[in-house]
Amino acid sequence: MKIAIIGTGYVGLVSGACLASKGHQVVCVDVDPAKVAHINDRKPPIYEIGLQELLDDVVPSNLTATTDLAAAVRGADLSLIAVGTPFDGELIDLKYIRTAARQIGEALKDYDGYHAVIVKSTVVPGTTEDVVLPILEEASGKKAGRDFGVGMNPEFLKEGEAIEDFMYPDRIVLGGIDARTIEHMAGLYEVFKGVDIIRTSPRTAEMIKYTANSLLATLISFSNEIGNLSAELGVDVVEVMRGVHLDKRFTPIRKDGERVVPGFISYLAAGCGFGGSCFPKDVKALIAHGVSRGSGMPLLKSVIEVNQAQPARMIGMLKHRFPDLSGLKVAVLGMAFKPGTDDIRESPSLPVTQALLDAGATVKAFDPIARHEAEKVFERGVEFIDTLDATVEGADAILIMTAWPEFRSLPALLSKTGSSAYVIDGRRMLAKDSVPAYAGIGLKVEPVA
Ligand SMILES: NC(=O)c1ccc[n+]([C@@H]2O[C@H](COP(=O)([O-])OP(=O)(O)OC[C@H]3O[C@@H](n4cnc5c(N)ncnc54)[C@H](O)[C@@H]3O)[C@@H](O)[C@H]2O)c1
Repeated sequence: MKIAIIGTGYVGLVSGACLASKGHQVVCVDVDPAKVAHINDRKPPIYEIGLQELLDDVVPSNLTATTDLAAAVRGADLSLIAVGTPFDGELIDLKYIRTAARQIGEALKDYDGYHAVIVKSTVVPGTTEDVVLPILEEASGKKAGRDFGVGMNPEFLKEGEAIEDFMYPDRIVLGGIDARTIEHMAGLYEVFKGVDIIRTSPRTAEMIKYTANSLLATLISFSNEIGNLSAELGVDVVEVMRGVHLDKRFTPIRKDGERVVPGFISYLAAGCGFGGSCFPKDVKALIAHGVSRGSGMPLLKSVIEVNQAQPARMIGMLKHRFPDLSGLKVAVLGMAFKPGTDDIRESPSLPVTQALLDAGATVKAFDPIARHEAEKVFERGVEFIDTLDATVEGADAILIMTAWPEFRSLPALLSKTGSSAYVIDGRRMLAKDSVPAYAGIGLKVEPVA
């Protein structure tokens, strides 16, 4: 199929590169000429495992990038909208969606034949039919259903595993205003064999995406609330959750005695909070949408409340040991909101680092991938270092903010240098007796000796 992808960020570029590798002809559109130039030069503008190799394979034979939206849409059978949908503090902000819809509609004015416009961005239920469809009709002067199709195809990829997720999807959700749109959209995924496909309405497709993200965020905040109480009670949340995980309704035991550990178990673990470009904004957007429809949304409001308080616990633990942070040498390990990505949006590391600076601490920071993004936020004050060793050298305290696997070498590193720095483990990734002075989320803070 010939596909135009509007918005070439994480979702647009990964989707484009994967669909191109499956034989489709893809044109990626972005308003940012630098991004477009990078892609045409086969230089990924974001970090994602395997993306470089994919671009090497598909650019320019099956994938090109452009800023010319109209030409891309006119040359395609189907347009995918993958622009950002930020939360504006009160509601989901649909300005990029509206602009893209208007531009696509204008391009469809003199388009011959059938074209489907599919929303891939995460949008609150009703957006595709009540916002996108009327804009498309007005801008094109054509009738949805008769002259063009309109649909919603949510994206479930996870940053850090985005290509794997896209290439081997667990489900494909196709929401269309009619059967023709759905079948047209299904053409995108014909080459993905044996995957469960849900054919439904755009509204249901939109709701599936929010429900999935809200459930995962709820598991994290639940685990954090239990972790915070565990710390109060003097028990270790890691032990508590292990006891919970072993319930065979969560980790079934196969006939051969092996335990199956489903992926959601990793969300049932306490830490310094969730971040990223999706969970915080999606849960807030669903709350706002629910409230506007008369639902109080008390559970999801608490999910956000618990999460917002979580990064401050790292500072609380630090202050317990060092009441005055002024001049304290602190190493912050991890800026990305999770390992495997350079995305720092809503990362718990950001408020923690800012609080350290505000308190007058001397901050060195290390992230194996996200340094360039973090430097844009902390232009002054934080010294970004290239290696883990040099970051922790001479530190009074070390805060683990992101579960990058390389941070597991910290105990060996500290023992080699004889450092007794106070390690605060925001991801509970180290054994608690592996370093001389350890504190962690979900663990009672030991009194200062
Ligand atoms: N990032 C994820 O892990 C993820 C996963 C699933 C779903 N989503 C959803 O997908 C959507 C996109 O997310 P993202 O992280 O890829 O966003 P992003 O901010 O990385 O990328 C959006 C891109 O759209 C471009 N853009 C904006 N308006 C445009 C226009 N009129 N024409 C062309 N380009 C335009 C921007 O320049 C930017 O490059 C959001 O709704 C998000 O919630 C994201």
